[in-house]
Amino acid sequence: MAEKFNEDNKLTPKELAKHLRQPEGEIGKEVGLQMNKGNKHICLNSYKVLNPKNKDYILEIGMGNGFFVKDLLKMADNLNYSGIDFSHIMINEATIKNKEFITSGKVSFKQASIEKLPFNDGAFDCITTTNTLYFWPQPQDNAKELLRVLKPGGKLLIAYRTKDFMEQLELTKYGFTKYNVTDVENLLNLSGFKQITSQMIKEPELDFDGKVFEMEGMYTTGIK
Ligand SMILES: C[S@@+](CC[C@H](N)C(=O)[O-])C[C@H]1O[C@@H](n2cnc3c(N)ncnc32)[C@H](O)[C@@H]1O
Repeated sequence: MAEKFNEDNKLTPKELAKHLRQPEGEIGKEVGLQMNKGNKHICLNSYKVLNPKNKDYILEIGMGNGFFVKDLLKMADNLNYSGIDFSHIMINEATIKNKEFITSGKVSFKQASIEKLPFNDGAFDCITTTNTLYFWPQPQDNAKELLRVLKPGGKLLIAYRTKDFMEQLELTKYGFTKYNVTDVENLLNLSGFKQITSQMIKEPELDFDGKVFEMEGMYTTGIK
């Protein structure tokens, strides 16, 4: 049976779109939990495509409530993870869910926007971000900011649903910028990334607001 999202139709498409962009308060917390179900496959597949190596310093942009951080940490030894998100409630939730990893120094979270990252130049071996591209305010400047905090030879992975898919969902009329693969590849190219490649991974069906969708995730990577 398909996974379900917004099963009881509590939120209008406009309200849901607002909380997907920036979850706030109790409703935002609930939307965060729904994302853990609806985005499970794209989040877990993004970490597989990222394929971190032992001791890598990893940055995630817009990790939401950080539910999948535990799965990323299992993918190699001695990973160091930093997550940033501009939603206060998501930082709170991610901190609660990952308390043990934070105490042991493997994980940290900061409330910040992709526009100005609170990290030094060349701080990370890889950067991953899932389902955030639609909300980047200045895509080329934002991609350059990611390039700044990557080490030379470091990898950026962007995981997203394509424009063709997103256009089927009413909520994407409200504040989403939609991209097809060539748009994302051009964005990375113009921002200074090299060796840009994309792949698609199919997922089980998803029941979204009572309608069943064939699902697939797109994964575009670029190297500094
Ligand atoms: C749709 S959710 C995706 C969460 C998770 N990555 C997933 O796929 O389930 C988008 C997340 O990105 C965050 N976000 C959106 N725009 C951002 C920005 N400019 N800077 C930092 N975080 C941002 C939101 O607060 C939210 O937690």
